[in-house]
Amino acid sequence: MTISIEPSGVSLGATVTSVRLGDLDPSEWATIEEAFHEYGVLTFPKQFLSEEEQIGFAKRFGELEHVSVPISNQRKDGSVLQDDAHRFWILRGNERWHHDSSFMPLAAKASSLTAMVVPSSGGQTEWADARAGYDALDSTTKEKLSSLCARHSNYWSHEQLGQPTHTGEGYGFHTFGAPLRPLVKIHPVTGRKAVYSGRHAYGIEGFSAEHSFTFLKELIESIAQPPRVWGIDWEPGDFAIFDNRCIMHRVQPYDYSEPRVMRHTRVAGDPLTEFAPTVRDERADNYNPSTFAQEARVAADQRSIA
Ligand code: OGA
Ligand code: MN
Repeated sequence: MTISIEPSGVSLGATVTSVRLGDLDPSEWATIEEAFHEYGVLTFPKQFLSEEEQIGFAKRFGELEHVSVPISNQRKDGSVLQDDAHRFWILRGNERWHHDSSFMPLAAKASSLTAMVVPSSGGQTEWADARAGYDALDSTTKEKLSSLCARHSNYWSHEQLGQPTHTGEGYGFHTFGAPLRPLVKIHPVTGRKAVYSGRHAYGIEGFSAEHSFTFLKELIESIAQPPRVWGIDWEPGDFAIFDNRCIMHRVQPYDYSEPRVMRHTRVAGDPLTEFAPTVRDERADNYNPSTFAQEARVAADQRSIA
């Protein structure tokens, strides 16, 4: 079998076939890693990876932040999530462009998804190329961006959704404040510049709140334009991996009365290049880890800082 890599035809993304991700030889892995850096997103139709195989493949990229989580609109008993569930709002939030874990002190390197159950329409995942988005900016804007930093916070992004049941607790709602990240990120491997923004970003240093809001909204819109957007209309068993350091993603809305289940594995960033210092986020001040689960999450946060 010779591995086949078919570029999408737009600035990011390629479809990879004639390979078994659960059983890679060293040269196939080298080809895939190189393609990951070039295209930013790779999709692999019909891999039907077991959970173990997906975890094993993700570990080739580095240490995992999330080993395996179901991204699902259903509870274990099959009932559909309603808007009184925090997880419902995580899914709704995923409909907006973002980089995974940008709100954590250590942002993510890569994320992978296996489609387990897909709805009859909608639910496509889309990616936007923040490298090409940067390249397309005029030189004045590039110059302006070069010295700007934005805060990233789950408190902020969930507030933007208007989540009525928001309690400020759960994954990503921590005491450490908001990471302050440059709006231009230099890719640690390719050296390419990319805009680093997304739905968790707010409060650009030196800007008024309103100016920052409008500036970030327009910036994100300018990135996520053709020919810098690519998507997948999932079939069960399809797999994708993407580079959070330079690519944004979102999910298209779908009818929540139909199940959609994705198996998600997230690779942690490198502390040398994805760690950011945090500044006070007053929304986090009242955080009170009241349950064992929340304390466990805080401990995980601290590990990622070390
Ligand atoms: C995620 C995410 C998009 C999707 O899991 O981080 O944004 O298509 N998922 O489910
Ligand atoms: Mn995501």
